[in-house]
Amino acid sequence: MSLPIKQTPILKGKDAEKFLKEVNRDRTPEEKDQDIKNFKRAKKVYDSIGLNVLKSKPLESIGFYTLSDERAKNVSGTSPMKRAEMLVTGRCNFKCPYCRGFDNINADVGDIDFGIARETLGYWIDDKLENIRFSGGEPTLYDRLPDLVKQCKEGGIKRIAISSNGSRDFSVYQELIDAGVNDFSISLDACCASFGDKMAGVGGKWGKVAENIKKLSERTYVTVGIVLTEDNVDDLVDIVTFAHNLGVADIRIISAAQFNKLLNNCINIPQEILNAHPILKYRVDHIAEGINVRGMKDSDCKKCYIAQDDSVVAGNEKGEAFFFPCVIAMREGIAPIGKVGANMKKERLAWVEKFNTYENNTCRENCLDCIVQFNNKVESYQDSKKEIL
Ligand SMILES: C[S@@+](CC[C@H](N)C(=O)[O-])C[C@H]1O[C@@H](n2cnc3c(N)ncnc32)[C@H](O)[C@@H]1O
Ligand code: SF4
Ligand code: SF4
Repeated sequence: MSLPIKQTPILKGKDAEKFLKEVNRDRTPEEKDQDIKNFKRAKKVYDSIGLNVLKSKPLESIGFYTLSDERAKNVSGTSPMKRAEMLVTGRCNFKCPYCRGFDNINADVGDIDFGIARETLGYWIDDKLENIRFSGGEPTLYDRLPDLVKQCKEGGIKRIAISSNGSRDFSVYQELIDAGVNDFSISLDACCASFGDKMAGVGGKWGKVAENIKKLSERTYVTVGIVLTEDNVDDLVDIVTFAHNLGVADIRIISAAQFNKLLNNCINIPQEILNAHPILKYRVDHIAEGINVRGMKDSDCKKCYIAQDDSVVAGNEKGEAFFFPCVIAMREGIAPIGKVGANMKKERLAWVEKFNTYENNTCRENCLDCIVQFNNKVESYQDSKKEIL
């Protein structure tokens, strides 16, 4: 961030004389007090900018393309939607032991009503949404997903992402690419078939997942998500190396919400692999400094500013759909902000105002490093704006 520099005008003639008289005269005690106050205020602004904004890494350098310092600087009650996520179904062909269900939305299987899904996308598109993610459950089991993707593409959404377990026939993914998908996040929790079966809770899929990751990486932007539990944490370096060799753009390591330990052994990941993947490097650098992927400190911002221009929607088969501030909130049992409708933006803003994230166990223990950093940056920018005014 650069602050505007006030240019000193070049003074001539009478103006120069007046100016010299002014600077040479004795300052009154009140003026001296004011000088000290001004100095202290300037120092506070400098400290907040210098320590919290200028010295921390720009958000755009950490690899999550939806996050940037520009977004942190501009997010407000009137800024357009930057990112959204729709959980189209709770159904899945895997049974990963760590996976949470859809208990939070009163769902049997969590298939969002197609009409409500389209209506939700309509609200977001009207609010100039830039990035969307479809997830679940396994979103590729939702038959009309390609139609939703097409609506996004026609609505001008730039980045259309799918989170998938990667196990479906390649033609399913090709159809989604043809409809407009340009980002896949595929889960990969093991580097061999027998362990892959254990982590997926079903047999015989791991080879297909690896093959699909490789093929998709040749066609579009692909990241791999590795969820670590006590079962696979010792294989972390091998799984990362395996994913790297499949040609992926980036690798997201994360402890399962139930496990939530510092992934110390990631410091053994070879440097050339870290250099090839910014998100992975960001996480490993943080962990090396003792900062967990999940969790907030008392000194972190206690407001969830990201919910001003970000939202997660999930629906049930009774025709209801709910919106949440983030996917962790949805999966870990934070109550929805409200029901999908024209008033969502207003309700999100009111929620941001009143919700103290540090007082909430789920946020305090599970919020992700990059989101904590984003919220901290927003707060720093807001503080520095207030000080300057
Ligand atoms: C619920 S899945 C849905 C998309 C798809 N089925 C998949 O597995 O990628 C979305 C992401 O959440 C992760 N996930 C599921 N349960 C989790 C948990 N308890 N802790 C951390 N991540 C979890 C998955 O590994 C996956 O990367
Ligand atoms: S594949 Fe995804 S949705 Fe399915 S059980 Fe695993 S984490 Fe959950
Ligand atoms: S977990 Fe983080 S992003 Fe989610 S609601 Fe809490 S503070 Fe916001």
